[in-house]
Amino acid sequence: MENFEMDKFLDYIRPEDNELLRDMKAYAITNNIPIIRNEMKQFLETLVMIYKPKRILEIGTAIGYSSIVMVEALRKSYKTLEGIELISLERSDEMYSKAIENINLAKLSHIIKIRHDEAEIQLKKIVNSAEKFDIIFMDAAKGQYLTFLPYCMKLLPVNGLLISDNVLQSGEVAKSRFSVPRRQRTIHQRMREYLWELNHREDLQTSIIDIADGVTLSVKLS
Ligand SMILES: C[S@@+](CC[C@H](N)C(=O)[O-])C[C@H]1O[C@@H](n2cnc3c(N)ncnc32)[C@H](O)[C@@H]1O
Repeated sequence: MENFEMDKFLDYIRPEDNELLRDMKAYAITNNIPIIRNEMKQFLETLVMIYKPKRILEIGTAIGYSSIVMVEALRKSYKTLEGIELISLERSDEMYSKAIENINLAKLSHIIKIRHDEAEIQLKKIVNSAEKFDIIFMDAAKGQYLTFLPYCMKLLPVNGLLISDNVLQSGEVAKSRFSVPRRQRTIHQRMREYLWELNHREDLQTSIIDIADGVTLSVKLS
């Protein structure tokens, strides 16, 4: 929903980021790096506080903003970060270096581990190591969500939560493929297939939420 007056009001009403997160957001805006929006940040913080995961997997780190947001929310909730681990996957050299810098500034390098690699390569390795994650936050290339889903299903325990960001593509996903620019049609089609899959798998319960750029919450049922 695009409503500038409401967005302005809600941004005014929300608590401010701490200094590091403010600097990171300013850096992201200046350098055109897509990070979670303010409403998504608040939603993610609340979700992790309710769900209280010990292990989180993030697909798509960028500069480390959402990783730090989730871990700081857990610190607030648990009062300690003992036993918490967040693994985040990032393929870009530039993003990886910046994320490491920010995670060091946040003094969270013992909690947040970034794997600098193509996500699918790392997902295969993690599946082979039989690790599990209470929450997976999918926030990478939109055209690849469907490819990553089978790995996520293996990495989530029953009752594990899959959060997928940017699924409504500013409303583009609802449009007919012919009204979408040709170069975006593959991503458009793949996101529609992803949403269909999330909504029709017997082993998932999904809710589509129209905040920020659209987010889905999916709970693994079996
Ligand atoms: C939307 S940004 C992530 C934003 C971050 N989660 C935040 O809100 O702070 C997506 C990131 O995923 C990375 N990415 C996209 N596709 C990827 C892939 N297949 N493997 C690894 N990283 C990927 C991009 O380089 C980019 O930095």
